[in-house]
Amino acid sequence: MDIKIYDKLARRYDLATKIVSFGIEEIWRSVFIKNIKKFIKNGVMIDLASATGEMSKVGFDKIYFVEPSSEMIKVMVEKFKKRGFREENFEVQFQERPYIKLKKEKKEYIIIPSTAEEFKIDEKADLITAFMAFRNFDDIKKASDNINRHLKNGGYLAIVEMVKDDSLMSKLILWYMNNIVPLIAGILVGMKEEYKLLGKSINSLDEKKILENFKDYDILVNKELFFPIAKMYIMRKNERENIKS
Ligand SMILES: C[S@@+](CC[C@H](N)C(=O)[O-])C[C@H]1O[C@@H](n2cnc3c(N)ncnc32)[C@H](O)[C@@H]1O
Repeated sequence: MDIKIYDKLARRYDLATKIVSFGIEEIWRSVFIKNIKKFIKNGVMIDLASATGEMSKVGFDKIYFVEPSSEMIKVMVEKFKKRGFREENFEVQFQERPYIKLKKEKKEYIIIPSTAEEFKIDEKADLITAFMAFRNFDDIKKASDNINRHLKNGGYLAIVEMVKDDSLMSKLILWYMNNIVPLIAGILVGMKEEYKLLGKSINSLDEKKILENFKDYDILVNKELFFPIAKMYIMRKNERENIKS
């Protein structure tokens, strides 16, 4: 996905998302978080394609946010600072694009300016989240291998994604995404063409393309979220020794 689209959208992203989805995306997020909390309450979390950091609502004490758009990162940092987080320096900074560390009491957030395919963290996570993230990855296989490398055995992978489905309802929603959303986005944020591109990316994502990369995982939740077009998956990485990690 072209990151420039997201750079341009960053300042208006939260508002635009609320308007074009009629607030449904927020409902999806809270259902998603409630489901995650049935399995795991705290630990080390990695959130992929974080945009403005809304998945911080999971409430874990240590969260790594992986996001390639510098403008989204700026919005995320401002948002966390408004909530009382303070920026801290890393003792060693060797990355090309420095990580950003924010702290508030026992909470520690680390923002990694990178993609799902390329990010590197030197500890493994108890939970990896990907909310509306997969369709943005240029190489789903590479991103999935990287997820597998960064998740502890017995850890959870939680995904919400809009995937292709042949039902009439799904076709109607796609039509809305491809024809009406760009019009609203054109008026609201002057980004008609960009939203057309975002709609097209949903047309092409089949759930098999995601699930085939996690065959060794136990699927604990595989549910539609009100409409057939959005699906939620919660999987557990098997604890068996023979799994590549
Ligand atoms: C639809 S938004 C994700 C929403 C977000 N997860 C949330 O909780 O609100 C897509 C985000 O994916 C990011 N992105 C694009 N390509 C990416 C990649 N290869 N790896 C990780 N993130 C990517 C974009 O910069 C954008 O911020």
